[in-house]
Amino acid sequence: MRILFIGDVVGSLGREWIHEYVPKMKKKYRPQVTIVNGENAASGRGITEKIYKGFLQDGVDVVTLGNHTWDNRGIFEFISDAPKMIRPANFPEETTPGKGMVYVKVNQQELAVINMQARTFMTPLDDPFKKMDQLVTEAQKRTPFIFVDFHGEVTSEKQAMGWYLDGRVSAVIGTHTHVQTNDGRILPQGTGYLSDVGMTGPYDGILGMKREAVIEKFLTALPHRFEVVEEGRGILSYCVLDLDPQTGMTKKITYQSISEDHPFES
Ligand SMILES: [Fe+2]
Repeated sequence: MRILFIGDVVGSLGREWIHEYVPKMKKKYRPQVTIVNGENAASGRGITEKIYKGFLQDGVDVVTLGNHTWDNRGIFEFISDAPKMIRPANFPEETTPGKGMVYVKVNQQELAVINMQARTFMTPLDDPFKKMDQLVTEAQKRTPFIFVDFHGEVTSEKQAMGWYLDGRVSAVIGTHTHVQTNDGRILPQGTGYLSDVGMTGPYDGILGMKREAVIEKFLTALPHRFEVVEEGRGILSYCVLDLDPQTGMTKKITYQSISEDHPFES
């Protein structure tokens, strides 16, 4: 089974790049499942129903989210009717709409996709490690193919999750920092791992935001309103995982960004 995972889509430029490149990438890599993190897709904050449906039309199978899940208030209206969208599973169980895990059919098999959020330098949600234990036990009853988008700030917590789940899930791939790390690997028990897959959207912003306000904030320590870069050069960051058809573990992981400096080769 082959999975294409595309990192955090930021604003309209990110959406345009998804629209343009997902069909091309599907042609090139022929993945069975395409997953996109869309938590910054609506002007950098959250996602709308229109954007979610647009992703599906572009060929995306599952949309994952993160700490910005609730920023676009409209999400409360449609999250329960968005079967292919998941938010971090470790929001408090009883009070949080939506779900943190979804199963995707792949021929006679299934892929479980889990979205989980880290806690260091982030809103402290429920323990992501304990929640993973629960969800992995549940998913393993149905399938050995389990993909985890671990949305977190620090590499140490992400590495800890990778090692904690080694041999129990197909892959743990990080999101949230918007910068692709160069540490993609297969852990000893077969779990594919990458600390962060990186972002999709403006290439010349700071994590996708207009540079001036971000620099000014660092210069003055005063609050500044951040806005997404809406035009100009773009980047699309992704990884491709090949899973063993029997064990579900990762056999190969590749990761890359497409930009003017690293053009797409069909
Ligand atoms: Fe995030």
